[in-house]
Amino acid sequence: MYRQAVTSLEPGDVIATTLYTEAGTPLLVAGTPLNERYIRALERRGLVAIYIRDGLADDVAPEDVVSQQVRSTVTTYVEQTFATVMRVASERGAGAQGGVEGAVSNLGEQELELGDDGREAMANLYAGVEQLITEIIESSTVAGLESLKTHNEYTFQHSVDVAVIGTLIGKRLGMPRDRLRELALGCLLHDIGKSYLDVAILDKPGPLTDEEFAEVKKHPLMGYELVRRMPIQSLLPAHVAYQHHEQQRGAGYPRGLVGDNTVAGRAEHERIGAGRLLLIAEIAAVADVYSALSSDRPYRKAVLPDEVMRIIEGMVGRHLNRDVVKAMRTLVPRYPAGRWVEVVRGAHRGCRGVVAEIHPANVDRPLVRLVLGPDGEQLASPREVDARREQDLELLCLPDQLDPATFSAGSIGP
Ligand SMILES: [Fe+2]
Ligand SMILES: [Fe+2]
Repeated sequence: MYRQAVTSLEPGDVIATTLYTEAGTPLLVAGTPLNERYIRALERRGLVAIYIRDGLADDVAPEDVVSQQVRSTVTTYVEQTFATVMRVASERGAGAQGGVEGAVSNLGEQELELGDDGREAMANLYAGVEQLITEIIESSTVAGLESLKTHNEYTFQHSVDVAVIGTLIGKRLGMPRDRLRELALGCLLHDIGKSYLDVAILDKPGPLTDEEFAEVKKHPLMGYELVRRMPIQSLLPAHVAYQHHEQQRGAGYPRGLVGDNTVAGRAEHERIGAGRLLLIAEIAAVADVYSALSSDRPYRKAVLPDEVMRIIEGMVGRHLNRDVVKAMRTLVPRYPAGRWVEVVRGAHRGCRGVVAEIHPANVDRPLVRLVLGPDGEQLASPREVDARREQDLELLCLPDQLDPATFSAGSIGP
């Protein structure tokens, strides 16, 4: 089994894992051969990559820490919540048309009255958050964080990814369930202020001008102003929206808050104030960067998981909280299960295969099933290599959109 970009699918490819709709019902069942109509339907739904069977490593089934049903339903609830909040804000003359400044003054201080459908959307969102937290608390897998994009709107998919990664980190840091709830809600709503940004800026395929970046920098404040007026018991989720672009050494926006790169003693008690970042916002910041880099954006393709981790490590200390990243590194594999990898150093140099198993005690040294030799030839029998035992073994993730058998050896350098 391997991940294949939807744009490279061909009729006859057999789908390896069941795909679900946003409502959580099966869309295509594992084992279904694809035809032109199915492929077009997958494209229309905005899927980026799916798992297909290849007869080489079909028993490798990447488990996600959160079921695809919960992911899909929570994504839908986030979308509904954003829509109701924007509707009510518009009724107060604080719609997206007037820009952030006008919106904030028109919002008034009263809680947003969301109406029947809005209350239903919020109740659904809360129920979704509980399911998500329960699945994360109960899950012991570290195999998969690579969600198969099921939603054609980036923001909603991204919000759920940030919540999943954030909650995982919070769990690892020993946060009590109440705090995980605030963290997850904050992550799901962190970019709601982006509803006020011009889509032309959001989806711009090139670098932003200074004026455009100044606009983008308004979304944390706008998010805070909206979330703190939503019927949510705690103020902390609003502060996650407010603080998620702040940095450890004060170079972030909008307020230039600072952090001290530690987590010790902070998981249970959080206090807002004194120019300092909240731990849950520092966690959201790490999860936000991870999710953004791992996704296709209008201005670049998704960065591969091993490279994402290298970039994040380079942001530690100055931008991202060192201890939070340290916790994340024990949870998020550089070479996720089901990914094609190439051996770039060690005895099997040039061979390619699929990550078969992640060891929870050392997520960066997986078990790999090598199936192709250095010239792309299929090995007579697959060879299992355990990176924990072969210390000089070094791996490199291969992109989805390439057929692992056809690109030539050494075509992708380390
Ligand atoms: Fe943001
Ligand atoms: Fe974000």
